[in-house]
Amino acid sequence: MAAALYGAPAKAASRDPLPLPDEKLRGKDPEKYWKQIRDEQFLLPEWRAFLNNGSLGIAPRPVVKTVADFLYSSAALEMDWYPRWGYEALDEHRAELASFYGCKAEELAFTHNATEALCMIAGGIDLKEGDEIVMTNLEHPSGRGCWYTKAARHKLHVREVTLPMPPKSPEQVADLMTSAIGPRTKVISFSGIISPTGWVLPVREICRYARSKGVISVVDAAHMHGQVAMKMSDFECDYLAASPHKWAYAPAGSGMLYIREENLERLWPTIVSGGWDNTKMKAGRFMNVGTNNRAIVEGAMAGLRFLKQIGPEHVYARIHELSRYVVQQAKECPHVDVMTPADDRMFGALVCLKFKTKNLEKLGKLVSARRIWVAVGEQVRVSTHIHTRRQDIDLYFKTIREALG
Ligand SMILES: Cc1ncc(COP(=O)(O)O)c(C=O)c1O
Repeated sequence: MAAALYGAPAKAASRDPLPLPDEKLRGKDPEKYWKQIRDEQFLLPEWRAFLNNGSLGIAPRPVVKTVADFLYSSAALEMDWYPRWGYEALDEHRAELASFYGCKAEELAFTHNATEALCMIAGGIDLKEGDEIVMTNLEHPSGRGCWYTKAARHKLHVREVTLPMPPKSPEQVADLMTSAIGPRTKVISFSGIISPTGWVLPVREICRYARSKGVISVVDAAHMHGQVAMKMSDFECDYLAASPHKWAYAPAGSGMLYIREENLERLWPTIVSGGWDNTKMKAGRFMNVGTNNRAIVEGAMAGLRFLKQIGPEHVYARIHELSRYVVQQAKECPHVDVMTPADDRMFGALVCLKFKTKNLEKLGKLVSARRIWVAVGEQVRVSTHIHTRRQDIDLYFKTIREALG
């Protein structure tokens, strides 16, 4: 009624979740299916071209509703338990996550983001003076900072492996990373998807080799959950940190820490309250971090269910296809070089572009005037997710051409 009065589109009038489009439509008319997903499942306005999940994703309606409902019902104290997390192990939530990740519930802990999980890992591993940590030269500041502070404090050595720009194949990267492991190396810590470039690294090959040498492997999977398949059983890593608020529809402030079973008693907890030494709690011991917003965790779970409902394989097929479209457009654009490897295994839904000019002021202005949400700089990543339209990508490249002549 109000929608009709004020001329607002009916869909925008209600913020409640709507049923997913009929699956048959995906096969019959994929563009229509994904458009319907964007229009009905997300709150994105028509005029927004959002191309930066890499920094922070957006929550779809079912997630927003879950968070809001939880806040309302907890303010009304409708439940008979404390509406929080921080002193609770949330076993059922972790079990649901674990069945998706191919690990045990006892190996998972909720955190606020990948940064926190990485700090918990680096802070909790015992290392001594002279020990070495191997990483790539392209780690995110959160993947570097956690090790460099530890190195400064305990006189450790950090060895950075310079990756080619761009690499040729996962085999080349695996070879470079594993051959950097030397007699002093105790830890190898690297991003499963490289932050500034979006390259997908061969996680299993690197972790398996590290394991064979008795080296602890740490995977910064901030970009993985929701973008590519992320099965711990496939990865064979010791520790992993994730940020489901990037690609897995979770509200901001959602993170995850994975601790391989054999390390549960080895890792020291760094943010502690009671139970810090209760190893029977398994990874739950790492969740006694003080009172926290449970609505966010409930939202993250709603995000996981949304992903499962659409189907991670369909999500990947769509977002990867859109990324290929970005690559194709970029190759036809005279102003950029593509820094994404040609090897299809090396990218998911992030394409890295390098501008041929440093003079990007006009582009910055035009991008923001046209409401295109993308970083502007000499080297940028373009993200494609299920809410991305081909027209968003077209608009971006049209804008580059207009701004740079
Ligand atoms: C590879 C990588 N690691 C860690 C982070 C930090 O993630 P968060 O801010 O969610 O902790 C990012 C953020 O972009 C990232 O790209």
